[in-house]
Amino acid sequence: MTTKLLNLVLILAICSTFVICNAGGPKKQNFYKKNDVRDNYYAEHCPRAEEVVQSITEKHVLSNPSLPAKLIRVLFHDCFVRGCDGSVLLDSTPNFQSEKEAIPNRGLSGFDVINEIKATLENECPEIVSCADILTLATRDAVSFQYGRPLWKVPTGRRDGTISLASEVLGNIPSPFSNFTVLKNDFERKGLSIADLVALSGAHTIGVGHCNLFSRRLFNFTGNNDQDPSLNPKYANFLRSQCEGPNDRTTTVEMDPGSSLSFDNHYFQILREDKGLFVSDATLLTNKKARKFTKKLLNPKKFFDEFAKSMEKMGVIEVLTGTQGEIRKQCNFVNNN
Ligand code: HEM
Repeated sequence: MTTKLLNLVLILAICSTFVICNAGGPKKQNFYKKNDVRDNYYAEHCPRAEEVVQSITEKHVLSNPSLPAKLIRVLFHDCFVRGCDGSVLLDSTPNFQSEKEAIPNRGLSGFDVINEIKATLENECPEIVSCADILTLATRDAVSFQYGRPLWKVPTGRRDGTISLASEVLGNIPSPFSNFTVLKNDFERKGLSIADLVALSGAHTIGVGHCNLFSRRLFNFTGNNDQDPSLNPKYANFLRSQCEGPNDRTTTVEMDPGSSLSFDNHYFQILREDKGLFVSDATLLTNKKARKFTKKLLNPKKFFDEFAKSMEKMGVIEVLTGTQGEIRKQCNFVNNN
């Protein structure tokens, strides 16, 4: 072989080695650090934490069957403002109005149950279990109670935030008057997809809504004393018979009539019969992809799978972990306030 040919073989050999090395790859470092929550975070330092949450929650669900609806709504409102950091649980201070004071949060309840769980856990293992985790676990346990098994997973290790501002609520909590594009953007900003929006709206299978939040659909939809054409006319008559009038702020109606204490996929059946209570429910049928997904969720197994996936996603929105935030001693106050 000539020297030229030898050089060529050598170059080819080096190149191919390089290509192979690159293809096999030096191990890529994983720069994407998933939120640092994990299963059984309290196993070592408060092994009974999850058991305590479950037993106190179940005791309360037994005497108050509307608690699952209360708690899951509180969790949704927590996670959408500053992430799932328990900020919605904080009371106002002389210096600041907390999230609780904002209009969308005024009807929230269930805080007493979270406070009772916290007090019990502080006795057992002080300053270990966060209020953000207690709320996330208690919600799962309350909603799952009727089935006697957990409906979704709750990894733990969230820490509690120290800031709660009423002024941050309206801009983050979706409105019942919103159309599809607005809702889609509200959810996208929290890292949630159209599928999550549809599946999580299925939580409206439990609980109630106040008349003033849908009465425009019954009495004055476009300003001409008319009705929302996307609302089932017979159902509109029924709703009109329930509410005192357009300004009734006190009467509530079941969002899934006849089945509002049972967590199931019945919401999607009534939704597809144009009996969704709010504009934000009805609008899920106006987008092709979302509408198709509502059809899929008529299948109970698919609904439970999708709901679980989306709850697991919602439960880790912008969580504080590691040394961020704090572990509150009381869920309605920050430490050292
Ligand atoms: C898609 C955007 C959403 C909007 C616009 C919305 C809006 C509302 C409104 C206006 C009410 C009635 C409040 C009242 O009259 O006092 C309500 C109730 C409720 N929402 Fe939503 N919601 C949405 C998503 C969610 C999600 C993601 C969940 C949970 C995963 C949820 C769970 C509930 C529950 C369980 C109730 C009944 C609460 C009770 O009975 O006390 N909602 N929602």
